[in-house]
Amino acid sequence: MAITIKSKSEIEKMREAGRLLALVHEEMARHVRPGISTMELNRIGEDMIRSFGCIPSFLNYEGYPASICISVNDRVVHGIPSKHEILKEGDIVSLDAGLIYQGYHSDAARTWAVGEISPEARKLVDVTQQSFFEGIKLAKAGNHLYDISAAIEEYVTRYGFTCVRDLVGHGIGTSMHEDPQIPNFRQHRRGVKLQAGMTLAIEPMVNMGGWEVRILDDDWTVVTEDGSLSSHYENTILITDGEPEILSLPQ
Ligand code: MF3
Ligand code: CO
Repeated sequence: MAITIKSKSEIEKMREAGRLLALVHEEMARHVRPGISTMELNRIGEDMIRSFGCIPSFLNYEGYPASICISVNDRVVHGIPSKHEILKEGDIVSLDAGLIYQGYHSDAARTWAVGEISPEARKLVDVTQQSFFEGIKLAKAGNHLYDISAAIEEYVTRYGFTCVRDLVGHGIGTSMHEDPQIPNFRQHRRGVKLQAGMTLAIEPMVNMGGWEVRILDDDWTVVTEDGSLSSHYENTILITDGEPEILSLPQ
């Protein structure tokens, strides 16, 4: 499928989808603390999405059984919330959420510390978030898609961490996953030329150890092969002729 360029009215809807998703993340973040179950965080996120009249886009996506992907410690992405999984001091937890507003998707992920975490874990979380911002410095019309990929990996590698290679960012719009795929590591080609009106979900997944991952027997949860910690940070952005607009951060 070709990469879509969004019209002004489509961009308005993507903006609103992103603004609402940022509020969902703020609300979930307020509840991240030792003792809460991942199921409870899922409920808080899903309730807020529905309170806006939006649809939780992850629920039933290819059979995924929840609205928020919650991935603790060595879980990379797509963790399934459970009432038996209780957050504890020192954990890192990634919350990945998506919603549909008037037919338009937004997708964003944050990784939070649960209470006090180790300095190494703090560094991993901070570097992951910053790698997103390093990547999108290159995200403007006229540059090439894989400029973003290379910038993310270059930054992450500087700190001795690795970028997951099996999962990628993506175009987004009337579907959660549109073309193009957006790897978080250097490519041998330059990729398509970026154009104003493209909407992209940029989402570095960064491991403390090796980049290799595997999937648990639940067929969803992606974990690091070596058991090392993993962090995730994602926003839906709009390509413009100047700085990109980050749609899923608080406006
Ligand atoms: N946020 C994920 C992504 O960026 C999608 C979640 S998978 C789902 O691709 F099954 F939970 F929807
Ligand atoms: Co995504």
